[in-house]
Amino acid sequence: MDCAVITGAGSGIGRACALRLAATGATVALLDVNGAAGTRQAVEEKGGKAAEFAVDVTDDDAVASVVSRLPGPPRVLVNAAGVIVRKKLLESTVEEWRRVLDVNLTGYFILLRNVIPAMAAAGGGSIVQIASIAGHTGYGFSSYTAAKGGVLALTRQLAAELAPQGIRINSVSPGVVHSGLNRDTLSNETIRAATQDAIPLRRIGEPDDIARAVEFLAGPGAGFVTGTDLVADGGMISTIHWGNAGDELHSFHTREG
Ligand SMILES: NC(=O)c1ccc[n+]([C@@H]2O[C@H](COP(=O)([O-])OP(=O)(O)OC[C@H]3O[C@@H](n4cnc5c(N)ncnc54)[C@H](O)[C@@H]3O)[C@@H](O)[C@H]2O)c1
Repeated sequence: MDCAVITGAGSGIGRACALRLAATGATVALLDVNGAAGTRQAVEEKGGKAAEFAVDVTDDDAVASVVSRLPGPPRVLVNAAGVIVRKKLLESTVEEWRRVLDVNLTGYFILLRNVIPAMAAAGGGSIVQIASIAGHTGYGFSSYTAAKGGVLALTRQLAAELAPQGIRINSVSPGVVHSGLNRDTLSNETIRAATQDAIPLRRIGEPDDIARAVEFLAGPGAGFVTGTDLVADGGMISTIHWGNAGDELHSFHTREG
């Protein structure tokens, strides 16, 4: 049985990806620093197959060991494990900067370098990297923005490098999504309302909104798609630079004729 490797599978977007990919018939390998018992149980309750690994994605030896014990040849990899430090550049310590880059960018590299040879040996596959609209725009939290910009650039770079091995690689850039990463901020009613107001579709995303995009990119429907990014953000970055100024400008010109 082919295997889909998912990092950050214990929570949020990684967990939703695991449920979606398991429903396609893949055996899902669930990697998370905290383990992924709840996700494994949820997959199995729906009749899917899962294996769970408690592993830190920044530990190359530990990831190599997991990859040698996968329940099948890896045909899909979803890099989703992530952390955030909500600090501006001059507020960030070197340790905080390194930690965010280590998990969100080097951790992706460590999964790539360990999984790609096995995926190529299995005849190819599809890789989906969870980036962020933070990688496209100024988001205010420098280390996170830098890491996600790195993920976007790395994904583009690898498309040509991996194509000869039958491997496609793309990213998904979520907007604001309910998950463990922002449970604290979104539980603040003022922040939640302001965030929702900044999203043209007027709702905060759910992990499954992102998992649906991942399922598309991972699957045969995206067979001619590689090296690109799919933004799933309710339209947030289509309007973020204008905000209310767009409405003001429109009514000014309407008034002035
Ligand atoms: N939630 C959002 O609004 C949002 C927006 C854009 C991008 N993202 C990205 O989506 C991805 C998934 O995050 P989420 O929102 O589901 O948050 P989440 O906190 O619910 O899930 C992240 C998971 O990553 C795991 N993790 C953290 N460090 C790890 C490590 N060193 N090794 C292994 N696992 C580790 C955590 O244990 C957790 O289960 C992240 O890359 C995040 O940056 C999230």
